[in-house]
Amino acid sequence: MAYIAFSRKYRPKDFSQVIGQEAIVKTLKNAIELGRVSHAYIFAGPRGVGKTTISRILAKCLNCKEGISSAPCNRCENCTEIDRGSFPDMKEIDAASNRGIDDIRALKENINYAPIKGNYKIYIIDESHMLTKEAFNALLKTLEEPPQNNIFILATTELHKIPDTIKSRCQIFLFKPPTVSQIKEYMKNILEKENIPYDEKALELLAQSSEGGVRDSASLLDQAVTYGKGSVTTKSVEQMLGIVPQNLVDRFLQRIKENNIEKLILGLEKLDKEGFDLNVFWKQVTDKLHRELIKVSIEEKGDIFTKEDQKSLIYLVEIFNQAYSQAKNNFSPKNSYQLALLKIKFIPNLKKIEKLLEGSTDLKQIKPSSSKSKDITEETYKEKRKPQTDIPYILEKIRKEIGGIVFATLEKSKIEETDKNFVIYADASIISFIKDKQSQIEKYFPKPIEITEIKKEKRQKNRKRDETVDKALELFQGKLINYKEE
Ligand SMILES: Nc1ncnc2c1ncn2[C@@H]1O[C@H](COP(=O)(O)OP(=O)(O)OP(=O)(O)O)[C@@H](O)[C@H]1O
Ligand SMILES: [Mg+2]
Ligand SMILES: [Zn+2]
Repeated sequence: MAYIAFSRKYRPKDFSQVIGQEAIVKTLKNAIELGRVSHAYIFAGPRGVGKTTISRILAKCLNCKEGISSAPCNRCENCTEIDRGSFPDMKEIDAASNRGIDDIRALKENINYAPIKGNYKIYIIDESHMLTKEAFNALLKTLEEPPQNNIFILATTELHKIPDTIKSRCQIFLFKPPTVSQIKEYMKNILEKENIPYDEKALELLAQSSEGGVRDSASLLDQAVTYGKGSVTTKSVEQMLGIVPQNLVDRFLQRIKENNIEKLILGLEKLDKEGFDLNVFWKQVTDKLHRELIKVSIEEKGDIFTKEDQKSLIYLVEIFNQAYSQAKNNFSPKNSYQLALLKIKFIPNLKKIEKLLEGSTDLKQIKPSSSKSKDITEETYKEKRKPQTDIPYILEKIRKEIGGIVFATLEKSKIEETDKNFVIYADASIISFIKDKQSQIEKYFPKPIEITEIKKEKRQKNRKRDETVDKALELFQGKLINYKEE
């Protein structure tokens, strides 16, 4: 017997076999039962999620010889012909190759004839977004004054390319990719019917890599059965998909947590050399990071990260997802991934990233991350995440305990916290007064203090401005054209 691909062999024959698309199925079943079927539908959604399948089921529901119902018999001549694609009252038109006005004219001529065998003539226009402007216009008139017993289904993967005038005359159904667990169930069902042994983990891996396309998942399953010589095991699926074993993925995450960029870059290089598909690996890492984020958000701890890392994980997942989509357009995916690994070096400066995300223009607040700066260790990371010292609170204590004059001089000065100490920028007129009180004041600060004249601060300011410019250049990947000193 000739071999039939799973996707064809298991094309759902009625609504009960369709996976996902619950809302669409429910609406169509109700419409059939209540006699409220529309004369024009748009079925929009990604490839292989059931647009053609559901169109054919609808055609059977309306043309089954046993009568109109939401559960066609699947045995009568009309049902079997629809399944085979040879029913004379159902036309599947590929708009990619029949996109012109003449094709639509031919279709419109056909409309005037009554159905030959069934109750309704069904026109499925596949890739309908490919129709020309003129063809759409010609179709528009038909949709405006629909002839009786004709139903149009415009299937498309690109809804935004369908003109609004057409959209407003159709009922639009948005098809969504089924979930990983629905796809898994779907595969399990096929394997059980085929009497093929499998393990759960293998199906999970296959479902994850089919990215929601049901047709793709059926083809992958076909491939896996052949690859595994008649069984579907985790090991054979891992090999077939080029999946990196989980312990290596976990180790990679550990290095991310340690912010060990060198090891990460080397690790990626090694996998590449060993022939693993880096896109697959990156997806594995991203999925795991995402799961860790959800885990630390709901529970205290993930497998590798803890609640403390929640914010870092949000940025990590964003950076990793971004790199994954960029890699698709990059001549070398590895470049995108290396860049992403370099980016995570800066994640510990959460304050900085948060500020940027808020769109803060206060770049002065943002410390430059010079390439000369030392690697950020776990310790300095924690240090940086500590809340800033509450200077007003300290001053208030000084006012109460040392007195109003000291307080007033400090308040007039600018106080800045650095990693090592606090710098008090005092006016020349009061600097010696503050210096006299240094030992008294110092006790109130958690770090040593340095008292310096305000003039110095001005110079400092200029330097800061330079850094701000550098920072902006780095962020926006710009070039310095002109810079005016004050
Ligand atoms: N929702 C679904 N439930 C069960 N099987 C499905 C579903 N969607 C797709 N399939 C399987 O995938 C195959 C292709 O589906 P279908 O032709 O309906 O996709 P489509 O959405 O029309 O895709 P395209 O945009 O490529 O035309 C079917 O034969 C069937 O085996
Ligand atoms: Mg289709
Ligand atoms: Zn029938």
